Amino acid sequence: MRILKHLFDNNQAWAEHINTENPGFFETLSRQQAPKYLWIGCADSRVPANEIVGLLPGELFVHRNVANVVIQTDMNCLSVIQYAVDVLKVQHIIVCGHYGCGGVQAAIQDQDLGLIDNWLREIKELYYQHESLLDDLSDQQERLDRMCELNVIRQVYNVCHTTIVQQAWKRGQSLSVHGWIYCLKDGLLRDLSLCVTHPEEVAAYYRQSAMCMG
Ligand code: CO
Repeated sequence: MRILKHLFDNNQAWAEHINTENPGFFETLSRQQAPKYLWIGCADSRVPANEIVGLLPGELFVHRNVANVVIQTDMNCLSVIQYAVDVLKVQHIIVCGHYGCGGVQAAIQDQDLGLIDNWLREIKELYYQHESLLDDLSDQQERLDRMCELNVIRQVYNVCHTTIVQQAWKRGQSLSVHGWIYCLKDGLLRDLSLCVTHPEEVAAYYRQSAMCMG
């Protein structure tokens, strides 16, 4: 008997359901993928990329890590972006954070959590940069929410500054980078009004959005 049999049962039911709705779905999809979107989100189990935006397999290229961080030396994330932009030619990169993010919370707490502290260093620095603004917020929940938003804005900025995105724009490829945030409490996405389509827009958007956070 299989271990985790219920997961295989779920899988069988899921595949059958999709095949009933769209006969030949998997057969067609197995030949190629042509997603229009790259999703960069948090690894949190409560933020399932495809389900949130109602997209089927084949429609969303996904990269997830703790606190949806885009670090310029992270070969994993950069390789995903490069493949998505250069080979799959996605038209949109969506950085999606979420309120109540444990990774962001860990970054702004003075606590030793081990290896993960290194991963979250970028968010710690972001927190120190905005500390005075954030300290004005007496409510701890609100402070965490603002930090989750600031983190999305920063990661959009980081995506825009990758050589991959810069070069795509330079050669005239149509590519937009979006900053969204997901609310665990109601299952809804919020657009942080951050949509960058040209290199010239990056600095202006970043300044404007970071100021709005105050
Ligand atoms: Co999270």
